[in-house]
Amino acid sequence: MSTVRKFSVPRGTSDILPQDSYLWQHLEQKARSMMEVYGYREIRTPYFEETALFTRSLGQTSDVVNKQLLNISQAKKETSEPQEDISGLSLRPEGTASIVRSYIENDLDKKEHLSKLYYIGPMFRGERPQKGRLRQFHQIGVEAIGPETSIAYLDAELIALSTKLLEAFGVSGFKLKINSLGTSEDKQNFSSLLRSKLQKDLSKLCPDCQGRFERNVFRILDCKNPTCRDIVAKLGLTDEHLSESSRKYFAEVKDALKMLKVPFEVSATLVRGLDYYTHTVFEISHSGLGSQDALGAGGRYNGLVQELGGDPKGTIGAIGFALGIERILLARQNTDEEKPRPDFFIVALDAEGKKDAYLRAFQMLEEIRSEGISAEMNFVTASMKSQMRLADKLNARNVIILGEDELNSNTMTIKDMTSGEQKKIPQTELARLLNNLKK
Ligand code: HAM
Repeated sequence: MSTVRKFSVPRGTSDILPQDSYLWQHLEQKARSMMEVYGYREIRTPYFEETALFTRSLGQTSDVVNKQLLNISQAKKETSEPQEDISGLSLRPEGTASIVRSYIENDLDKKEHLSKLYYIGPMFRGERPQKGRLRQFHQIGVEAIGPETSIAYLDAELIALSTKLLEAFGVSGFKLKINSLGTSEDKQNFSSLLRSKLQKDLSKLCPDCQGRFERNVFRILDCKNPTCRDIVAKLGLTDEHLSESSRKYFAEVKDALKMLKVPFEVSATLVRGLDYYTHTVFEISHSGLGSQDALGAGGRYNGLVQELGGDPKGTIGAIGFALGIERILLARQNTDEEKPRPDFFIVALDAEGKKDAYLRAFQMLEEIRSEGISAEMNFVTASMKSQMRLADKLNARNVIILGEDELNSNTMTIKDMTSGEQKKIPQTELARLLNNLKK
């Protein structure tokens, strides 16, 4: 006999159980209705893509590609049928690359001027799991892509949307930091400038950062090592890497944010971990989250559509952000969601050996549900006390009691569980009662 063993959820993932899933549903519904108000429409792309798409978009030296990409591999099967090689596929670590792939593949630039897209779904990164850092996590993301759409007001509107979403989810006390990386030439300037400023302290940097110095010098700016942080703090970074026009663009973004009354802080060290960013970048953090304190982040990525072969003229602008749902749920305070609860619970009380009340209750359950109103009963025959206990546990709004008396007189006793008020009414009144409830 084979040994029995229990299976566990894979490390860095979790089950979302009914006691929590309603919170996810509320959050998703709020997100969807706000997206509609702001003119975004949902896009759904596959959970896996060609690995090369991520390498090209996010950057060979980014941590997400370098250390965290989860490749799909397949064990060789004993079969004579030819097997397709799927080893070049990876689970998506984020949404932006897939959406740009889809934007190009579906010629969205020819179908609409500005594609305002949103997505809600799981992302996968092979990280070392810890509080707020998972291998499967969920994002609510937004991307606005279109020719000639590098417009500071769009940046401001989109950043405002990210903070409005967080407020709608009941998160307060978060901090928005923004910065500008400028054009790809400005970014080159920035990395040369950083290297020259860091050169004299190179030997004091942590071994990781010493490697980053050549590979991806921006990464040094968000190293958590205290010595590296000290060195970075003393660099006295400003916006000197930016060209005049990039500086003007960034000033417009800041002015527009002020107009929208979105509080922000400019952080010269904010660079983001993915290669595709240009111009505006932003991050929203919450001090209550511990070391993984980013609730969400985003920015412009004007060169990516061209980089992926969809913009020969180089005019397509793009900006987006993604918020992490798990972290939002950890950070939020004000919750007004009501747990799902049945409108009716039917208590059936039969004399020993009889089943009349039980069968009438079973029928009534269906009558109520067919009107789109929720109802429950206990399928195991039990005492009045234990059935009432279950009604309480489910937090039912009303209880209908069907006992011998009620059956003989074709009535039912109905109890409002909030007021405690109880009355006996003819069963023929049920339809009217349900109709009133539907209003
Ligand atoms: P990101 O900063 O890599 O950006 O992720 C955005 C958010 O996803 C983070 O701020 C965090 O809340 C959540 N997140 C990321 N990794 C994990 C993890 N391992 N466990 C739990 N939550 C996590 C992006 O993904 C970009 N695609 C954002 C973007 C969209 N930029 C432009 N458009």
